[in-house]
Amino acid sequence: MDKQRLVQTAQALVAAKKGILAADESSGTIKRRFDSINVESTEEKRRDYREMLFRTAGVNEFLSGVILFDETIRQNGADGTPLVKVLTDQGIIPGIKVDKGTVPLPEAPDELVTEGLDGLRDRLAEYEQLGAGFTKWRAVISIGKHTPTSYALSANAHALARFAAMSQEAGLVPIVEPEVLRDGGHSIEQCFEVTEETLREVFDQLAQQKVFLEGMLLKPSMVISGGDYPDRADPDEVAERTIDCFKRVLPASVPGVVFLSGGEPDGSVTANLNAINQRAPKADAPWELSFSFGRSLQGAPLAAWAGKVENTEAAALAFYNRARLTSAARQGTYVPESHA
Ligand code: 13P
Repeated sequence: MDKQRLVQTAQALVAAKKGILAADESSGTIKRRFDSINVESTEEKRRDYREMLFRTAGVNEFLSGVILFDETIRQNGADGTPLVKVLTDQGIIPGIKVDKGTVPLPEAPDELVTEGLDGLRDRLAEYEQLGAGFTKWRAVISIGKHTPTSYALSANAHALARFAAMSQEAGLVPIVEPEVLRDGGHSIEQCFEVTEETLREVFDQLAQQKVFLEGMLLKPSMVISGGDYPDRADPDEVAERTIDCFKRVLPASVPGVVFLSGGEPDGSVTANLNAINQRAPKADAPWELSFSFGRSLQGAPLAAWAGKVENTEAAALAFYNRARLTSAARQGTYVPESHA
């Protein structure tokens, strides 16, 4: 294992002011996103949309990396330049989603397990050749009356650790993503408990499978109230609970956390990230606390683009603004636009 290379990449991904754009929607997910703006999901449209994001002038001030889907890492831009080169020319590290999505976990009603370990070693070697510096694997944990079960937590944590160990063997920094879903009417206390239990299981497995903690990143959800909870916790409470929870279970040797946005509205996810970064020094949090957002960076530009070439400039501007505000929140200096 090339530890020095892993440490270097992991630290570059959580460099000051910077975070990650998750643009690794699977074919099904990008189709749903395009359906929402009435655009047919063709290979060319997906390319045009993602190329618009990647070529947004100045966005490399805020982005350290972009997570790609298998199709995109092999794709060329409209002028024939590989999209990987479009990113690396701006100092942005390309990454790759390597899981194959979720399937029902046998004998566990309402719970999912992530697939994609078969053949992974060969795929990782190929992605490394194609220019990837890091990888991502997402596991999904839901909060319900009887979930998560310890069975689902351990099956998912085991797969996350297998993925992480193999990524490091291939020289790629694994982004370990156990997403506790926001869906449901649960309280922030329940989310705290489930997040703690999930991370405990994940870090147990990472240790057992000899994952090098200094050469990985964690991509968790924040500790928040469920989306349907009537009186949702404010950013200060989210920050306090999130950092308290991590302090119990997240080793200080992990260089950084890159939060997912999870379908939380843009305003609240940005305010939450900002409150977390404002609290971090006071709370002696030892990790970089950054972002790896999909929806919260892409919602505004997707709507502005609407599949039309004449909207490219407006879409790029909307993306630039979301990246700029998210970078401010990553530094604890975010001021909501209406008050700016
Ligand atoms: P969201 O920020 O939209 O949750 O996406 C992040 C991601 O990469 C999910 O795997």
